[in-house]
Amino acid sequence: MKKILVTGGAGYIGSHVVKALGEAGYTVCTYDNLSTGNRWAVLYGDLVEGDLADREKLRKTVTDFAPDAVMHFAAGIEVAESVSNPLKYYHNNTANALGLLEVLRQCGVGRFIFSSTAAVYGIPDTIPVNEEAHLLPINPYGASKMMTERFLSDLAFADPGFEYVALRYFNVAGADPQGRIGQAYKNPTHLITRALKTAKGEFDKLQVFGTDYPTEDGTCIRDYIHVDDLASAHLAALSYLLAGGASDVFNCGYGSGYSVKEVVDVASKVTGLEFRVEEAPRREGDPPALTADNCKIIESLDWTPRFNDLEYIVQTAWDWEQVVAQLETVRGRYLGRNGFSLNGFEVYF
Ligand code: UFG
Repeated sequence: MKKILVTGGAGYIGSHVVKALGEAGYTVCTYDNLSTGNRWAVLYGDLVEGDLADREKLRKTVTDFAPDAVMHFAAGIEVAESVSNPLKYYHNNTANALGLLEVLRQCGVGRFIFSSTAAVYGIPDTIPVNEEAHLLPINPYGASKMMTERFLSDLAFADPGFEYVALRYFNVAGADPQGRIGQAYKNPTHLITRALKTAKGEFDKLQVFGTDYPTEDGTCIRDYIHVDDLASAHLAALSYLLAGGASDVFNCGYGSGYSVKEVVDVASKVTGLEFRVEEAPRREGDPPALTADNCKIIESLDWTPRFNDLEYIVQTAWDWEQVVAQLETVRGRYLGRNGFSLNGFEVYF
């Protein structure tokens, strides 16, 4: 079976893709510095704990594993943080991607799948936005990913042995329905996770950033895609590349969106809990509305989304929050220890 190296495979999206790869029978190796990822999230294959900036370790991992393709997730993902700390994003997302590509080409690896983002579009002229739209990111996060897309396109043009797929993610949410993996950041900023953690009582209120946008209810609209559908898009892209497909770029979203207020209503319904919601000023770097034209990926990659249902997305995220609560209770009991085994998983702190 083909061997796939996954950078950032211990993180939220990467771990769901590792799960899908493992279930499909691929041999997987995760390379992750565990800065935001977790050892227990890697359900299949080996985990090499390493930083992308550590070229020697990276080169040794690539040489030893000899992957048929690489999927690159390891990156920062928060728009607001990228505005306040742009160099972190240009370092982690852009410079490290360049270093990874250099190592891969030195080692003869020529198939690459890149986690890009809808943030490369900035504020598109029309939505749903398609892949031909101009790339005019309005925050450093989007710019950091756009630059990597440019590296990839130039490299594929210059090097006949290199082909890539860049997947532009819209708003990824939800969790493994079996409750094994999900978002586990220390200080989450994404809307759905933030709303659910507020319902749980971890935050005293949910702020709605901007209620004067030119949308129907004045709040921002986003295209929320379940993480397992995003994972299946990666497998479709991988099959395409391994079958000799040419380099290309695809949107990953459902094609329609929900406003912040609509998401908050669904979070209240799913949790059955009232929580405090406060109107707040706009957040820097937020486009008013962003939804995907997904015709290209559906037609070219034979991808069929299965979970286009906001209630299902929020429900799986809420179920995961219950698992997190149990882990935190156990963690309290075992304070002082580095790790333990739970349901067959090694859990480390
Ligand atoms: N929001 C709130 N309150 C919060 C958190 C978010 O009102 O506490 C709002 C934001 O202002 C935005 C919307 O909810 O209008 C969604 O915000 P998220 O932080 O959940 O997600 P972003 O749209 O900022 O970014 C995400 C990913 C990016 C991706 C982008 C594409 O982090 O990787 O979606 O739309 F590029």
